[in-house]
Amino acid sequence: MFYDARGPLPLPHDPVKALVAPRPIGWISAVSARGEINLAPYSFFNVLASRPAIVMFSSEGRKDSFSFVAETGEFVCNIVTQDLAQQMNMTSAPLPRGRNEFVHAGLTMEPSRLVKPPRVKEAAAALECRLVGTTELTDLDGRPIDRHVAFGQVIGVHIEDRFLKNGLVDTAALRLVARCGYADYAVVDEVFQLARPG
Ligand SMILES: Cc1cc2nc3c(=O)[nH]c(=O)nc-3n(C[C@H](O)[C@H](O)[C@H](O)COP(=O)(O)O)c2cc1C
Repeated sequence: MFYDARGPLPLPHDPVKALVAPRPIGWISAVSARGEINLAPYSFFNVLASRPAIVMFSSEGRKDSFSFVAETGEFVCNIVTQDLAQQMNMTSAPLPRGRNEFVHAGLTMEPSRLVKPPRVKEAAAALECRLVGTTELTDLDGRPIDRHVAFGQVIGVHIEDRFLKNGLVDTAALRLVARCGYADYAVVDEVFQLARPG
């Protein structure tokens, strides 16, 4: 099939997110200027550059994660693995501002090394980030669409030692969880290698 995506949707659910999949999940912890703690998953998330590593997440509307990061300039991107999938999902509940999702999901707040927001102690890896900038996305006509992107530079990296093998991250052992479309998720439990040409 083909459809013009500027017109009405000819399918019961938007297929685009099911096609751009699997998407990594940034499980973002942040604190507000008042010291409120927040934790929520974002699959409009990725790493855009390396050394310095720049990551981004995009908020549909100004959700607490984005507001808190914009207020205090720091966040932690916790890595989601299969054993934490349920807890990750629990932290996406629409709790009122100021309600701590760590507590809601029974997770432990571990102080970060270089930034204020705590990290998820149970997570096998986490990236401590400082905000580089934010931007509001626009449509083709230049109209703001209430989608807010935060860009952060990774300044600290935590990896549980048991997932390092000869200095490399053992991706399959981590059992990373990624988001597919609808309510579907994928687990990375198998990888293969390709040598780069040239
Ligand atoms: C796996 C997963 C990925 C999500 N990705 C996003 C996303 O990229 N952007 C977004 O705005 N909401 C996303 N959500 C929904 C938010 O997590 C949810 O609205 C949450 O309540 C936001 O919390 P906050 O207001 O505390 O930041 C996602 C939810 C799940 C379960």
